Amino acid sequence: MKAAVFTEPNNPINIQEIEIEEPRSREVMVKVSHCGICHSDLSMLDLGGAGQLPVILGHEAAGTIEEVGRDVTSVAPGDKVMLTPLAFCGQCYWCSRAEPTACVEAQSFTSGLRPDGTSPFSNQGQCVHRGLGVAGFSEKTIVPESAVVKLDQDTPLDIACVIGCAVQTGVGSVFNSAKVEVGSTVLVTGLGGIGISIVQGARIAGAEKIIVSDPVAERREAALHFGATHTIDPLSDELVPRVMDETANIGVDYAFEAAGVAALVDDCINASRIG
Ligand SMILES: NC(=O)c1ccc[n+]([C@@H]2O[C@H](COP(=O)([O-])OP(=O)(O)OC[C@H]3O[C@@H](n4cnc5c(N)ncnc54)[C@H](O)[C@@H]3O)[C@@H](O)[C@H]2O)c1
Ligand SMILES: [Zn+2]
Ligand SMILES: [Zn+2]
Repeated sequence: MKAAVFTEPNNPINIQEIEIEEPRSREVMVKVSHCGICHSDLSMLDLGGAGQLPVILGHEAAGTIEEVGRDVTSVAPGDKVMLTPLAFCGQCYWCSRAEPTACVEAQSFTSGLRPDGTSPFSNQGQCVHRGLGVAGFSEKTIVPESAVVKLDQDTPLDIACVIGCAVQTGVGSVFNSAKVEVGSTVLVTGLGGIGISIVQGARIAGAEKIIVSDPVAERREAALHFGATHTIDPLSDELVPRVMDETANIGVDYAFEAAGVAALVDDCINASRIG
């Protein structure tokens, strides 16, 4: 099958013919129809592959189940699914402590390999890594059964694929990590897939003020449509003083850094209220 493979630093992704295994026990093969591009894919390019070359990137994917391995019970060939980069086994140290996103299976996100050190992909005998746990820039992929979520057959997959990373990361950070309450004030820096999903999560959580910052005007406009109440252009305005103005010098209850810019972490702390 064909896949977009990142083979060497500073070389763009190439379309190559590669081999894919049959799904093992509790694994499924998915025919990928759509895959978003998350900044974490771009970071892998910037990092020169993080020691995982060759690698198939893409981890925000959706498609149709093509084959299932032994002991798979939740999906069957023909089912529409979205994929998640953080699979879980249900049995390891982390799963038994109700931390499935740290599971040994989920660690495939950073290793590009199964927990046993293998990959379902190869090229003339050479291992090709399953980048960020999914390898969505490929005609087909193989992932654990727990990495797929069955969808209604009429679900549009071009939209559903974005749930695989941006939506679950952004909305999850609001509900599971920060636990934003009704009436809160929120700051979001960076309005890509993650930031926009944080804005939507904050709106659903009932945040009263959602202040957003991004140098791109169209993204600030889009954020207003998704629930932002105040926008800041960081090219013409200083973030922390503007947030203080909007919050009667108190600072926001919750600040989310979603641009991937280290210096903004400091700004987010300085824009947050005491407590
Ligand atoms: N599970 C996770 O923790 C997880 C998951 C996905 C992505 N990420 C990370 O989240 C970050 C965002 O990912 P994305 O896919 O939304 O990226 P993206 O590139 O689509 O969006 C980033 C946005 O930040 C904006 N930006 C740049 N500099 C800025 C500044 N100084 N102030 C405000 N905004 C600024 C850009 O204009 C852009 O709109 C990346 O670092 C990515 O690696 C983490
Ligand atoms: Zn991602
Ligand atoms: Zn586990």
